[in-house]
Amino acid sequence: MTHLLTIAELTKQEVDKLLDMAATGKARHKAGIPHNPLRGKTLGLIFEKSSTRTRVSFETAMHQLGGQAIFISQRDSQIGRGEPIKDTARVMSRYVDAIVIRTFGHDVIEEYAKYSAVPVINGLTDLHHPCQVLADVLTIIEKKGGYDGLKVCWIGDGNNMANSWIEAAQVLGFELVLACPKGYYPDEAILKKAVAINPKIRVTESVDEAATNADVLNTDVWASMGQEEEAVARKKAFEGFQINSRVMGLARKDAIVMHCLPAHRNEEITDEVMEGPQSVVWDEAENRLHIQKAILDRLIVKV
Ligand code: CP
Ligand code: NVA
Repeated sequence: MTHLLTIAELTKQEVDKLLDMAATGKARHKAGIPHNPLRGKTLGLIFEKSSTRTRVSFETAMHQLGGQAIFISQRDSQIGRGEPIKDTARVMSRYVDAIVIRTFGHDVIEEYAKYSAVPVINGLTDLHHPCQVLADVLTIIEKKGGYDGLKVCWIGDGNNMANSWIEAAQVLGFELVLACPKGYYPDEAILKKAVAINPKIRVTESVDEAATNADVLNTDVWASMGQEEEAVARKKAFEGFQINSRVMGLARKDAIVMHCLPAHRNEEITDEVMEGPQSVVWDEAENRLHIQKAILDRLIVKV
């Protein structure tokens, strides 16, 4: 692993190794055993979009691993004043040991990775959110004992999260059924490539088809960051694409419900389901910390 921009660039062995390291690291942390392989190392975080979980979990991860993190928003750096990415990437590489980037276009992070001499980690782009989906798979393993043989469903927007889920299913081989309204399908090229590798990935416009006998139900906001102006039109288009008690009734009795958060209660998920016994959203959020510690360990120490 040189960078972590998408899940599809990882092999199954690499993903399994990260998941193993995260589980071991989580147990070690809960037992109060220190693990400081990143002493003296610095992580730079360059964020062009808002964040609670990604920022705090990466900063905390670095602290727990013995290193430190520096947060840079585009507003108060030269990035917001137009300094080219290729210059910023080369300068940052002279100071820090890895960089997390949250931005809009996926091409932006690709350019950072091209010019950076240190690992670049995708903290979300319009096209992918790999760290979140890796944390989600860790959560599934904790709750279900593994991912093999499960039916995972996605209900809602074919967005960055959906694309990363498709790549996770491509690499790990589980069944993934996505229910998306017409016009809001996942990225065509990502889907096409994934289906050719894992034919158990498919998109439907039927929420019921996706949710029936599902082991894992997943959703996300109808309007992602940067789509605020489309919010009204999207609210209309996504009517019915909600995880609620009726949809839960179609899934397996022991199904779990996931949401990367932040959630818009009573839009893509009802408050009742989110606060209900099958919701694992808080463990899912916690697991961002543990998977990212594994990612940092792997990329910076190269274990
Ligand atoms: N799920 C997630 O990435 O949350 P933040 O936007 O708060 O980082
Ligand atoms: N799809 C959402 C995820 C937020 C973590 C967005 O991009 O805004």
